[in-house]
Amino acid sequence: MSFRIALNFEDGVTRFITCAPGETVAEATIRQGVRIPLDCREGACGTCKSFCESGRFLLSDYLTDALSDDERAEGFVLPCKLRPKSDCVLIIPAAFSTSGPGAEDREVVATISALDLLSPTVIRLVLTGPVVAALDFLPGQYARIFIPDSVESRAYSFSSLARDGHVKFLIKNIPQGKMSGRLARSAKIGDELRFTAPYGSFYLRKVERPLLFIAGGTGLGPFLAMLETLENNKTALPVRLVYGVNTDEDLVELALLAKFKETLPDFTFVACVASSADAGRVRGVVTDHLPPKEFFELNADVYACGPPPMIAAVEAYFRAYDIKCANLYYEKFLPNV
Ligand SMILES: Cc1cc2nc3c(=O)[nH]c(=O)nc-3n(C[C@H](O)[C@H](O)[C@H](O)COP(=O)(O)OP(=O)(O)OC[C@H]3O[C@@H](n4cnc5c(N)ncnc54)[C@H](O)[C@@H]3O)c2cc1C
Ligand code: FES
Repeated sequence: MSFRIALNFEDGVTRFITCAPGETVAEATIRQGVRIPLDCREGACGTCKSFCESGRFLLSDYLTDALSDDERAEGFVLPCKLRPKSDCVLIIPAAFSTSGPGAEDREVVATISALDLLSPTVIRLVLTGPVVAALDFLPGQYARIFIPDSVESRAYSFSSLARDGHVKFLIKNIPQGKMSGRLARSAKIGDELRFTAPYGSFYLRKVERPLLFIAGGTGLGPFLAMLETLENNKTALPVRLVYGVNTDEDLVELALLAKFKETLPDFTFVACVASSADAGRVRGVVTDHLPPKEFFELNADVYACGPPPMIAAVEAYFRAYDIKCANLYYEKFLPNV
């Protein structure tokens, strides 16, 4: 039995959709071509936060970062994790718009053209095929790649532009991980992978100010795609990257970063390791190596990407030292929740 969901948009428009048993409201809107604000679709970012005026539902598997206990008690919900158990009325904080019928995420298939263990902890996946050659995305955005023989998918940021029909991803190798473990253990060149793309609001905006990129672990990936774009656009503005990892073996793509240092007019980077066995390495975490205060006086745009604790540490550092920037954009590599 389906439920009838009323969506009240902020411009006064109301639209009704049907939600099948077990389906989330977000999935139902996509299926029926109605747009609501969505980003991670995993109960992690809070982009879809809406107010539920009436109805019974299940709401689970989300992070309190996205919806606090107080917000939930007030009646706020996350449509990407909301499974109705009765008809519901939701207030959506956006104007009504449609994506047209059949605008649900289109699954495409690409072939693995390279799969390298850059280190014991980092996999570089390269996909190729006609769909890749025709792929449109903004540098910093991500794809949802399906685990082979499964309906489950994982989010991975593009770590390159789609060039010559190839696109890359940097993936943390988690031995017990359903996706990364599978890639490391049994996937091989020539295998097909299904994915949908592009997603996300973490992408390189118009470049008109100095840029600071802060990467944690495989959070380096989207910055490699952004640096490629900056290389193509020949920006002369200062670009700084602070790249932090836990151990020496997490440190990858240093040669590529060194190449960007050669090709970009004003790019420098620091690669730091929290616990290093190598005397030659820069030690510490990203907040130990942020540029001096004078850099921030240039009104920089700051982008941070990586594990949630790193993003929290950067925000706390900015607050503690009263650091101002023009904009702070971030992407949290949340585990699948
Ligand atoms: C928007 C977005 C973009 C992302 N982009 C990338 C990317 O470019 N590269 C990338 O490597 N990851 C990225 N992630 C994380 C990625 O989607 C997966 O969550 C991650 O790869 C784990 O998937 P898995 O199937 O290998 O492990 P799972 O089977 O999902 O998890 C196995 C176990 O490992 C734990 N775990 C999950 N993630 C981590 C972690 N990072 N460190 C330690 N333990 C963990 C889980 O809690 C679980 O216990 C992104 C996440 C989001 C939300
Ligand atoms: S889209 Fe719902 S929490 Fe991110």
